[in-house]
Amino acid sequence: MEILRIEHLSKIYGTGESAVKALDGVSFSVQKGEFVAIIGPSGSGKSTLLHMLGGVDRPTGGKVFVEDTDMYDTDETQLAIFRRRQIGLIYQFYNLIPVLTVEENITLPLLLDKQKVDKQLLDNLVKTLNLQHRLRHLPNQLSGGQQQRVSIGRAVIGSPAIMLADEPTGNLDSKNSKEIIDLLKMLNKTFQQTLIVITHDERIALQADRIISIEDGRIAKDEVIRP
Ligand SMILES: Nc1ncnc2c1ncn2[C@@H]1O[C@H](COP(=O)(O)OP(=O)(O)O)[C@@H](O)[C@H]1O
Ligand SMILES: [Mg+2]
Repeated sequence: MEILRIEHLSKIYGTGESAVKALDGVSFSVQKGEFVAIIGPSGSGKSTLLHMLGGVDRPTGGKVFVEDTDMYDTDETQLAIFRRRQIGLIYQFYNLIPVLTVEENITLPLLLDKQKVDKQLLDNLVKTLNLQHRLRHLPNQLSGGQQQRVSIGRAVIGSPAIMLADEPTGNLDSKNSKEIIDLLKMLNKTFQQTLIVITHDERIALQADRIISIEDGRIAKDEVIRP
């Protein structure tokens, strides 16, 4: 089942002399449960692409369909709600709210959406993340690996259609990197959670089902490595 489709996506930052074409007519689709790695040189447009897929910033041209909903064919309020419910975003530097506890950070998307927190579901998730003894801690009392596990918890708690991660292990040592990738893979395999990860780590890319290479804002290669 197709969960994501992008058509002729383009993004130009700035205008006139200073305009930068960061994405130049990118099209592809992703099936539910796929694990896609996105690779490419620095400045090639990877983060821009992820922001367009995630509803973070509007494209200049083209369309993004998530489960057949045209994501940008709506106003800012509806887009924010859609993003909160359907997209799980994970960043290199975690982007946790410093004044909220681990538990509050994880459940934040549900609270913003006025949804009740299912205690059992939260317990299970927290155990999966191995954060059961850190629930009352603040982000700055945690290691980098633990903070990234909190951000993964926040990304999956609402069962999003897609999880998007931009260099999720870029700030971690190799042991913590492996833990984070193993966790993302487990969520992908166990719950058929669709996963798109930007990485410059070849060992991570080779664990994906498919590798899309971006160069100069275009798809240079799109290879299925695990059908
Ligand atoms: N907010 C922005 N304003 C202007 N230019 C930007 C902005 N974000 C990215 N760019 C430019 O767009 C191009 C692609 O950037 P980016 O998507 O961050 O690449 P990558 O993630 O592959 O390193 C680069 O030339 C970058 O300088
Ligand atoms: Mg980037």
